[in-house]
Amino acid sequence: MTTPGCPVRRLEPFSAEFTADPYPTLARVREEGPVVYDDSLDMFVVSRYDDIDSILMDPQTFSSGNVVRPVCPVGEEAREILANFHLDPVLANSDPPRHPRMRRVTAKRLTPRRMHMLESEIRARAEQLVDAMLALPVADFAAEVAFPLPAYTGLVLLGYPSEDFEQLKAWSRNRVQLNWGRADPALQAEIARNLVAHWEYTSRVVMDRYDNPQDDLISEVVQSHREDPEGLTLNEVITLIFTITTAAHESTTNAMLNALRVLLEHPDQYALLARDPSLVPNAVEETLRYVGSVISWRRQTTAATQVAGVDIPAGSQVLMLFGAANRDPAHFAEPQRFDVTRDNASQHFTFGRGTHYCLGAALARIQLQVVLDLLVRRAPSLQLAPQEIEFMPNLSHRGPLRLLVRTSAPA
Ligand code: HEM
Repeated sequence: MTTPGCPVRRLEPFSAEFTADPYPTLARVREEGPVVYDDSLDMFVVSRYDDIDSILMDPQTFSSGNVVRPVCPVGEEAREILANFHLDPVLANSDPPRHPRMRRVTAKRLTPRRMHMLESEIRARAEQLVDAMLALPVADFAAEVAFPLPAYTGLVLLGYPSEDFEQLKAWSRNRVQLNWGRADPALQAEIARNLVAHWEYTSRVVMDRYDNPQDDLISEVVQSHREDPEGLTLNEVITLIFTITTAAHESTTNAMLNALRVLLEHPDQYALLARDPSLVPNAVEETLRYVGSVISWRRQTTAATQVAGVDIPAGSQVLMLFGAANRDPAHFAEPQRFDVTRDNASQHFTFGRGTHYCLGAALARIQLQVVLDLLVRRAPSLQLAPQEIEFMPNLSHRGPLRLLVRTSAPA
């Protein structure tokens, strides 16, 4: 390509420094200018709040076609395994006219009302998990609560048989590394095999519901296909169910881990919630702003355009740094301050914005609120245990792999 009309800078998203704490890099990029070009990723990187807002609100110029495309090249073995695996772009990675059609079918089923109906079930499961964790003197919040709760919620929502939960959770492991990380060829091949096995399983479940409808979301989506087989093909049904299964838990797990970590690193804020749990919903928004579980997201230009006066050629990849915009001082006063009472905390980009706005945001919020509410009430003196906190190197998804907490249970 010709020389870009903006500074060339490398984010180095897989480096140890970025993985441990991306925020200094995100701030540097945002301060440097509205757009930089990363020549190793081949992406125009946009970091300021208003510019990201304009991109998200213009799906004609900024296509979603690339959002789940592997950032790093896929090795030969994984490519061969995936050769016969045809995933229609259905939601996050689709564009008009298909996207509005798919979104209508899904949004009709994933209504905030339906998700709120799940709340008592989520609370009951969360109570069991939190109580079991608080019985241990030192516990890994990831293993005890943040991983099992969103997995359970997503799978119950869809209507998977509970005896398959372990297998479904195992298939989803490491998937982020294929699309956003730098998995080695052996791991890529393992993830590819899991993808195919999960896809075949999803096809079997969908066909089963076709023959034996039940009272669950999978059967409802199958019913939409029966009513209008041209408007929603069977392959689209399988892909929709497959996509929702994978979207439903990873980002929520990470968000829960980030939220508890940042709260325990700010004991005054945790104590404030313990004194007044009615602040929990706003605290959830502040954690999503301050340490979101999706720190960047991609688009691809369909025509030559400009962002903040910088020319961007047609067909370019654009990386929106949500993590930088969520701390843009032009939008958030004293953005480096973590403040659970912040009045515009919910204006973060962590769930996206516009036509692709996250369809699971209500469900994620319910789970985060339920867990934090339980913790501040039942464990007001919870603390972080001494530990090295580790993250999986990748471009977009962020959350600690483990989070050791010290409860007040006797050792
Ligand atoms: C804290 C947890 C979550 C975060 C941070 C998150 C974040 C996101 C983001 C950034 C997008 C893409 C927006 C865009 O391209 O503009 C998205 C889309 C989506 N999310 Fe979530 N998500 C979360 C939880 C969930 C859950 C629990 C579900 C399912 C029940 C879900 C289902 C979806 C779906 C179906 C889409 C595609 C929407 C579309 O393209 O129209 N998400 N999410």
